[in-house]
Amino acid sequence: MIRDYEKVLEDLKSRTHFRSVKNFEGKEGKYIRIDGQKLLNLSSNNYLNFADNKEITEEFLSEVGNNFSFGSASARLLTGTLPVYGELEQAVSNLFEKDKTLLFNSGYHANVGINSSLTGSGDVIFSDKLNHASIIDGMQLAKSKFFRYKHNDMGSLEKLLKRERGNFNNAVIVTESVFSMDGDIADLKTLVELKKKYDCILVVDEAHAFGVFGQKGLGVAEALELLSDIDLIVGTFGKAIGSMGAFVTGKKVFIDYFTNKARSFIFSTALPPINIAFSKWIIEKKLPHTYEKRRKMLELGKSMGSESHIVPVIVGENDKTVELSQILYQNGYFTLPIRPPTVPVGTSRLRLSLTAEITSEDVECLRNILKI
Ligand SMILES: Cc1ncc(COP(=O)(O)O)c(C=O)c1O
Repeated sequence: MIRDYEKVLEDLKSRTHFRSVKNFEGKEGKYIRIDGQKLLNLSSNNYLNFADNKEITEEFLSEVGNNFSFGSASARLLTGTLPVYGELEQAVSNLFEKDKTLLFNSGYHANVGINSSLTGSGDVIFSDKLNHASIIDGMQLAKSKFFRYKHNDMGSLEKLLKRERGNFNNAVIVTESVFSMDGDIADLKTLVELKKKYDCILVVDEAHAFGVFGQKGLGVAEALELLSDIDLIVGTFGKAIGSMGAFVTGKKVFIDYFTNKARSFIFSTALPPINIAFSKWIIEKKLPHTYEKRRKMLELGKSMGSESHIVPVIVGENDKTVELSQILYQNGYFTLPIRPPTVPVGTSRLRLSLTAEITSEDVECLRNILKI
């Protein structure tokens, strides 16, 4: 049957699912400018205010940035690797106390590359039902079978492991640590127990926790003292670090394997050297001094009923969610309605993401409106 593109778009519009790119006029710390208005930005992953930050950018450029160019012009395995790439990989390995690290161009590239290559025919992946689209896309590209367990439900996972583990060769369990749309935290302790009991490889995506949780800011695994028990840790530089790119860190054999098998790593031009240098500069020079502001941000999240700095306000229907975000807009808050397919049908929501500059006074009026 011929696909009628106009009809698909009309259908999306009729269900309030239609998306379009918004143009903003500017960003200043915790604020965002749109339609001549300055609003508190509650839809940003710029958790530590390192992105879009004039002072930080100027400091970086004058200290080191001027030595780096804006294009790598080649994939890493061809001529796209200058010393700074290896230095960033080594810095991450040192922080996480792992053998080796591999950079990817984004968290999306990392999850697609890892989850598509780690298993093959005769293998299996067990994935949390609410894992990010990039993990799902990776699993769909893999030649292995995958099962999705109920969100953060260790009973549901163990039931599947009991029933299915024996039917496959290699097995992987994959989870986010802080769930991007719900702000809750994976039960990493039980996941480690289960991965040991059922002989699985455990992959943890710390996209929203790297730069936020733990004494050093490495994520939930650090905070729970589980770093050495997790086989592969994924982190992104595009969120709290305020840069771009991602990494996977773990045993040498896995990292060498991804270097040879992860197609999203192999077949894409490396990120610009200046970007790699910025990520390295932030994690070495700035991240070590962020503990107090991260602690305050997490406390504010807790006071709003969340386990993290991501506060979901689940409304249910699409149009009501859009309506609520408009009410908040009129009161000076920028929040985006999150709708299917990003979240399951019937759970449309506002996803409030706090950043370290936001104070309890900033969100007082919002809390009154939302009654949280
Ligand atoms: C859990 C999770 N993993 C990976 C990604 C993708 O990371 P990136 O934006 O660096 O591609 C996201 C992005 O929102 C995410 O929420």
